[in-house]
Amino acid sequence: MNLENRTALVTGGAVRLGRVLAVALARSGVNVAIHYHASAEVAETIAVLTSCGVRAQAFQADLGQPDAPSRLFAEARAAFGAIDILVNSAAIFPAGGWRNTTVDAWDEVFAVDLRAPFFLAQAFAQALDGNRGHIINIADWRAVRPGVGHLAYTYAKAGLVAMTRSLAQALAPNIQVNAIAPGAVLPPPGAPEGYLDTIAQQVPLKRHGAPEDVAEAMLYLLRSDFVSGELLYVTGGQEL
Ligand SMILES: NC(=O)c1ccc[n+]([C@@H]2O[C@H](COP(=O)([O-])OP(=O)(O)OC[C@H]3O[C@@H](n4cnc5c(N)ncnc54)[C@H](OP(=O)(O)O)[C@@H]3O)[C@@H](O)[C@H]2O)c1
Repeated sequence: MNLENRTALVTGGAVRLGRVLAVALARSGVNVAIHYHASAEVAETIAVLTSCGVRAQAFQADLGQPDAPSRLFAEARAAFGAIDILVNSAAIFPAGGWRNTTVDAWDEVFAVDLRAPFFLAQAFAQALDGNRGHIINIADWRAVRPGVGHLAYTYAKAGLVAMTRSLAQALAPNIQVNAIAPGAVLPPPGAPEGYLDTIAQQVPLKRHGAPEDVAEAMLYLLRSDFVSGELLYVTGGQEL
């Protein structure tokens, strides 16, 4: 897809990885609707996006609420007209092993990390009405190499990978659906100094990545006209 003058909706686009993805799109000439939940940095992110010479606007939604995905999509579409690209990046990442995962925590993670991406994809596909489009789901390598922590998150991301492969078939031939599995590219908020360097020791490439590596993978998938249903690892080989 030629990205110039397209429009994207990026969930969780105000901060951290989502913001880097939104900026990479804007630098490629894509108008960007960013979704945010509680970020205070929205105005600053919008200023950075508009300084790239594209349109940018922010839309608030708690994606844990059942009606939020369809409302968010409708608001973004009303403001921008056609939306050509959906990037599902917003997620929550709570700790929780097999003993202490509660029903409430499970429901919240599955609502934000899996249900919302699906119903956003549904609204996106319906609105495209046969036109070409791309969905990029931000997954995690843990989805395919599940461990013993962050269980609800891991299971929801595994569902996101399954959803990617399923929708790549269901929404073909007009919509390409791909996922990216980032590794260590940004320490979680509050992580100790050297967090990524410690993880890098377990990575075959012996270094950690950066959010920009994920943005490059996203741009590759968006520019491709022949890749769909793919899970692209940006991990330095960590999942191996
Ligand atoms: N960081 C990494 O190294 C890494 C590694 C693997 C995968 N990933 C994946 O990459 C994506 C972004 O990661 P990140 O580290 O940048 O995430 P993050 O810092 O945890 O940010 C989470 C994002 O989700 C939004 N969010 C949280 N609760 C929400 C809710 N109830 N409703 C709607 N939005 C909500 C936040 O919006 P507000 O800030 O506006 O509240 C924020 O934009 C996630 O899908 C994550 O699983 C990241």
